[in-house]
Parts: sequence; C-alpha cells; structure tokens
Amino acid sequence: MGEYGKYAKPYLSAFIIGPCLMITEVLGEIMLPKMMSLIINQGVADRDYRYILWMGVLMVAVAFVMGISGIGGAYFSSKAAICFTSDLRRDLFARVQHFSFRNIDEFSTGSLVTRLTNDIQQVQQVMTMFLRLALRAPGMLIGALIMAFIMNYRLAMIILVVIPVLGLSIGMIMTTAYPRFGIMQTKLDKLNSGIQEALVNVRVIKSFVREDFEKERFRLANEDLQKNSLRAMRVVILTMPVMMVAMNITTLAVVWYGGNLIIGGSMPVGDLTAFTTYIVQILMSLMMLSMVFLQSARAMASIKRINEVMRTEIDLTDKEAGKKEKKVEEGRIEFRDVSFSYGKNGRDQVLEHISFTAKPGQVIGIIGATGSGKTSLVQLIPRLYDVTAGQVLVDGTDVREYSLKNLREGVGMVLQKNVLFSGTIEENLRWGNEEASMEEIRAFAGAAQADGFVSSFVHGYDTDMGQGGVNVSGGQKQRLCIARALLKKPKILILDDSTSAVDTATEAKIRECFRTTLRETTKIIIAQRIGSVEEADQIIVLDEGKIIGMGSHEELLDSCEAYQEIYYSQRDKEREVSA
Ligand SMILES: Nc1ncnc2c1ncn2[C@@H]1O[C@H](COP(=O)(O)OP(=O)(O)O)[C@@H](O)[C@H]1O
Ligand SMILES: [Mg+2]
Repeated sequence: MGEYGKYAKPYLSAFIIGPCLMITEVLGEIMLPKMMSLIINQGVADRDYRYILWMGVLMVAVAFVMGISGIGGAYFSSKAAICFTSDLRRDLFARVQHFSFRNIDEFSTGSLVTRLTNDIQQVQQVMTMFLRLALRAPGMLIGALIMAFIMNYRLAMIILVVIPVLGLSIGMIMTTAYPRFGIMQTKLDKLNSGIQEALVNVRVIKSFVREDFEKERFRLANEDLQKNSLRAMRVVILTMPVMMVAMNITTLAVVWYGGNLIIGGSMPVGDLTAFTTYIVQILMSLMMLSMVFLQSARAMASIKRINEVMRTEIDLTDKEAGKKEKKVEEGRIEFRDVSFSYGKNGRDQVLEHISFTAKPGQVIGIIGATGSGKTSLVQLIPRLYDVTAGQVLVDGTDVREYSLKNLREGVGMVLQKNVLFSGTIEENLRWGNEEASMEEIRAFAGAAQADGFVSSFVHGYDTDMGQGGVNVSGGQKQRLCIARALLKKPKILILDDSTSAVDTATEAKIRECFRTTLRETTKIIIAQRIGSVEEADQIIVLDEGKIIGMGSHEELLDSCEAYQEIYYSQRDKEREVSA
C-alpha cells in the first residue's frame, strides 16, 4: 500500500474533509429522532404550541445543515477518489510505455487495457463509496445504539439480540458472494480481451469470413459473464429481504414491549417513535457496512491486478548504463557468441552461438526460413530484448552500456509489423526527426521511393492517415516506414523484411538510393528474396537459430548448400513466371 500514499497526498484535504462532513450528517441523523420525541412528549402532551414551533424550526435547521454537509461530503469524497485514480492511471500508462517487449509479452495488450480502464474505474467507485460510508455507517450504528440505550436500556436489549443474528446471516451471504465476484471479474477480463483481439484484427476476421465464428465466441463469453454475474447477484439480493424481515420483526417486538411500558406508565409515547427510527438506522448502517465490505472485496481483485502492473520489474532499463553520454558514432556491430531465448530461464533457445562483425557502412544481408530467428537476431541490436548469453557490441561497446535513448537514436529499425499512426503523412515522417526541413523530408521520402505516390495524393504530405495507416497500400506503408527510419539519419539501419510488399523494380531503386545516399550507414537487410541481398558485403544464412553460412553471394553459392538451394529454387520460379 505504501506506493499509493503518494497519490493520496496531493488531495489529502479532500480525503479528510469528505468523511468528516459525513460525520456531521450522522450527528444530525442521530439528533432528529430525539427532537421528534421531545415534540411529542412535551409539546404535544402539554399542548405547548410555541415549543412545537421552535423545535420544528430547529429541526428544519438541523436538516438544512445535514443537507449541506451531505452534499459537501459527497463532493469531496468523489473529488478525492477521482483525482487519486486519475493520477494512478497516468503513472500506470507511463509505466507501460517503459515496458520492455518482454514485459508486454507477459501481460498481453488486452489485459493491460482492462487493467488501465475497468480495474481503475472499479477502484474509483469503491473508493468514493468507502469515503462516504466508511465513517458514516459505523458512526450511525454507534450513535443510534447509544441513543437507544440512553432512552431505555431494557427496550434496547431487543436490538442486542437482533444484531448478532443479523450480522451472522449477512456474514454468511458475503462469504458466499465474495468468491463469486472474483470469478465474475475474471470472466469480465476474458470478455474484454476477446473484444480487444476481435476489434484489432477485424480486417483479418472479415477476410477469412470468420464473423459468425467470432460472434459465436463472443456470445459464449458474454453468456458466461452474464451467468456468473447473476450467480453473484443472486446471493447479494438476499441481503435485502433478510434485512426487511429483521427490521419488521424488531419493530414489532419494540412496539409490543414498548407499548406495554407506555401503558404501564414507565415510558413516554414520544420515546417509542424515536426508538423505532433508531432501529431502522441501526439496521441501515449494518446494511451499508456489508455493502462496503462486499465492494471492497471486489475492488481488492482489481487492486491486485493493478499492483501486478505497478510492481512488474521492467527488465530492460538504463540502470546498468556505464557510459550514459556515449552515442553511436560509427555503426560498427559485433555479435560475440550470442545466445537468446524468449523464456525466462534460457529455455527454448531461439539463437545459438551467433558471432559476426559488420564494419561501418557495410551491407549485411540475412536470409533464412521463417522462424529461423532473423527478427530475434536484429532485435538485440537496439535492445528490444537483451541477450541470454554472449555480447552484442556497437562501436566496440556493449549495447547494455549505452543509455537506451542514445542507442536507439543511433539505430533505425523498420520492424516487420510496422505501423503508421493517425495524423498526416508529414507528422508520421517527423517521428524520425522533429526538426527535419520539408526538403529533407522530401529527399528521404524520395530515397524510400515514397515521394512519388505521396505527391500524387491531392493533399500530398498533408494527407491524413487513418488509424494504423489504413488508407495506403501495404507496399506504400512499408516505404513510408522506411522514410521515417531514414529521417533519423541512423548510423545503423535495420530493415526487417521491409520491402516484402514492394515490387522488385521499386525495391532495386530503394537499394540504389541506399548505396548512394547512405554510404556511411551500416545496413542490415532481412529478406526473403535472394535478389534483395545479392549485392550485400556479407550474407548470413540462418537456420533454426544457428548460422549455417556466411560470406558474399559468390562465396555462398560456392560453399553453402542451403544457400544454393534457395537460390536455384527462386531462380527457377522467376523463370517460370517470365516464361
Ligand atoms: N515474442 C515471442 N515470444 C516467444 N517466442 C517468440 C517470440 N517471437 C518469436 N518467437 C519464436 O522465436 C523463433 C524465431 O522467431 P523469429 O525471430 O521471429 O523468426 P523469423 O524472423 O526468422 O521468422 C520462432 O520459433 C518463434 O516462434
Ligand atoms: Mg521475422
């Protein structure tokens, strides 16, 4: 809980004033029945109209103060809870932004969305309720009990019999309900994850005509949630009738016993009216208390899930950065006996004993079947993941010794699954370099063979991208992503299968531009087509996480069987196409 203190601190006054104003309201609630009994016992009995009038005015005044403090209490309680949770949400979001790829793999995006929205909302609601009721309910319970005992302790004994019986039955209801609410929350999580996945991938779903399947899957998840919500609610609903029965039986007992006392002359009539009101208040406060407990139990599940995000250790940080100021200057890359696995304890190795060197300005091609580890390999250079064993060095320095900012500024990477953001094309390209002039933007877009089609758009570089860049073709998107990376003027440029949707002729032009304009940048090009890497200074052939061939195109054609196989099969295919 310690780490949450800092979120309450700025709003401490609201956290204190809110519940305190609620106490004022309680005092009023306790006073009113007593005043009512005074009116009956003295005013009515003695036909003292002045007394009745003044007491009435006083009661109105008390009710007025109660109303004001009730409003104030509700306001400050809501303010405290809303501000607290909004700050918490801000920090959670910031934290998730710093998550490493590995951290995100652990949670899944759907679950993170639920935690940042639904779970926070849950905490906010319960916190508001807690601030409003936490002092009010016990205050009312104790106040009404004291008043009842002062008025007539023998009559009050009836209540003492009812409370334990009632407390026990409510306790039983709550212990049954609590686990059911826990289950309900997990079902909600499942539903949210499902919605998230289906909406993000709605295009794929449509292209495979899987709408009916998705609808069915959603229907099942939705029904599951419905069933479990009803199951939880069925128990909670029981509290109300139990309370009503208890209230009526107690009132009956009080009226019967109290009536006897009145007839016997040992109790004034007004006390009985006040007494029944106190009984209602006592039972009401018990009900409120049980609601507070129940809701808190529900919120605990959410707090636990928020905690998991709060306390996840970000496994990739600047902590160990030894040379904070150092920047990437040459673009020399060296892999020294690198092994890597996505698992925690080095199980399921994806890369094994990788060693190679890339000199500044060289072009390195990487080729290999899908799943051979190409993407995993290049992700180690800008530290999207850390090696499991061995070392990745840039300019002779271990990548872990750079600050993440400096390292990633020096390494431009076009990911295999790259995206554009909503905003104009120009804004998207400026991600690479905020300060770039329009000439530079055009020049680099030109190098990525994007200037041509962008200029053909009516609004040119002002064209608005749909979310995810939906209104350009796959190949156009890839070229914009390359332009964006180029604008960073990185010392190392990594293209992970980034021209797969671009036709061969255009791709050749992009390569030609790289040769002329990016002479000093070290380029790593992952490709499916041998033609894309043929001219590279060095080609690495990967298979199941191991290097099985390395050298120039000619060398590999001579010596590497796997490379020959890929080469000839692709050449034959091209011949078939052109024939
Ligand atoms: N985020 C991940 N978590 C766990 N395993 C992964 C992850 N990404 C890739 N893998 C696994 O690592 C292996 C290599 O994948 P990858 O580097 O993407 O290959 P390539 O880019 O050559 O197609 C595959 O077996 C794949 O299943
Ligand atoms: Mg890949």
